[in-house]
Amino acid sequence: MERNDIKTVIRNEIVNCLLELQGFLVVGNWKMNKTKQEVKSFLNDIASYDFGEKNTIVIVPPNPYLYLFEEKLRYSKVLYGVQNIYPKGNGAFTGELSLEMANDFGCKYAIIGHSERRTIFSECNVFISKKVRACVQNQIKPILCIGENLEERKNDNYKQLLINQIKEGLSRIDVSELSKVVIAYEPIWAIGTGETATPDQVEETHIFIRKFLTDEYGSDVGNDIPLLYGGSVNPTNVKKLALAQSVSGFLIGGASLNAQTFKEINNILNGN
Ligand code: 13P
Repeated sequence: MERNDIKTVIRNEIVNCLLELQGFLVVGNWKMNKTKQEVKSFLNDIASYDFGEKNTIVIVPPNPYLYLFEEKLRYSKVLYGVQNIYPKGNGAFTGELSLEMANDFGCKYAIIGHSERRTIFSECNVFISKKVRACVQNQIKPILCIGENLEERKNDNYKQLLINQIKEGLSRIDVSELSKVVIAYEPIWAIGTGETATPDQVEETHIFIRKFLTDEYGSDVGNDIPLLYGGSVNPTNVKKLALAQSVSGFLIGGASLNAQTFKEINNILNGN
């Protein structure tokens, strides 16, 4: 074997060992996709699959399919959640979903402030902060999404924007409750575009966010908050992204829709 080939083999082994050691939070956001039949076949497909001990797997389907998740995943280690909630108890809120209902179906996570909700449905930081608080009060982990669009990225003021999204999003909960929160950095220009942020870009931004969190909320709390990356994650790029500093896991859209692809991503993150 050539010297360079040996180096590559050793490097790959080390990378796989590093991945094997770290536990990742892997969240599949199905958005507004899938039929009932497709959901059933996905769930059957993953039913006998061993996702391993160290990664936490969460799937977030459209609400009408939650009953299938409750039925099929009751005894599974795979968790599930909702893509949005309304921050009130039951009542006259046509078209909305309460945390009570999410709890009723066994949901453990809620995606809050996804960029599609911010842009298409005009959700602002104040509204988002109320949802974060409601989740924490109802024992559902909010995954607070933050991220800049291409113009904001180019203007170079995106870091301040990210800080504002975090500060305002978390403004209605106590520092002691921050351990119940997950933050997902999803640059809008990388969502569903096939254009992933490079591992260097992800690392730079995640280090920046982590520093902000530890400066603002103290190092214990700030280091504890899981920081996910989302935006065109797939089996080809996930390994390099996982090695970027301060990446605790992934929020995956398109590549979470196919059971094979989703399992493949998990295999890679398990160092296989
Ligand atoms: P894609 O993985 O399809 O880019 O979607 C990312 C996302 O928005 C997950 O919430």
